[in-house]
Amino acid sequence: MHRPQEPSSGIHPLLAGRFSPYRFDPSAAVDDHALGLLLEAARWAPSAGNSQPWGFFTGRPGEPEHDRILPHLAPSSARWATDAGLLVVTLTRRHVDDTRLLYSEFADYDLGQAIAHMTVQAQAMGLAAHQFRAFDLEGLTKELDPSPGWAIVSMAAVGKAAGEPPEGRARHSVARLRSAPWSPAE
Ligand SMILES: Cc1cc2nc3c(=O)[nH]c(=O)nc-3n(C[C@H](O)[C@H](O)[C@H](O)COP(=O)(O)O)c2cc1C
Repeated sequence: MHRPQEPSSGIHPLLAGRFSPYRFDPSAAVDDHALGLLLEAARWAPSAGNSQPWGFFTGRPGEPEHDRILPHLAPSSARWATDAGLLVVTLTRRHVDDTRLLYSEFADYDLGQAIAHMTVQAQAMGLAAHQFRAFDLEGLTKELDPSPGWAIVSMAAVGKAAGEPPEGRARHSVARLRSAPWSPAE
């Protein structure tokens, strides 16, 4: 596996320098301007048929929205996500109202692109994002009660990283990316 910290790829520094922090600076707030830019970046992501099947619920320390999210973090994510200046709950519109009819077969794919945009925007602003699934999906869904057709998918903690990238970040090789779909399962 290739370690991205070893600069051999030549990709853009915003991408090469990105990592998911396990420590955030609790004194670093995400102000209204920064929050607006993060959502603006997500807004301009591409989506199938320009359907834009994404939605976000945000909370910052001290806001009532933050208090609604915190009890639903898993112990593993609460250790670091609580210190982040911003928590983002990501939602996608998968189904048409209460039916199982797909609104878009690309809904989750499109949401992922919007979050990638937000993540790179965060990096450009000197912030970092750690996406995560370690939360009580059922409990948070009950708490936020999204409209029919909408589903919570993931969360992201965004803030100022405290400390260096964790050890052991590794990636498959480019060759593997091209061969894996035709190789025997590992
Ligand atoms: C959809 C998704 C879910 C994730 N869930 C968790 C999680 O529950 N806990 C966690 O510590 N990291 C989680 N991560 C972060 C990944 O572990 C991390 O992105 C991966 O190890 C690569 O590390 P890097 O982002 O620093 O390059 C998640 C990332 C994504 C995109």
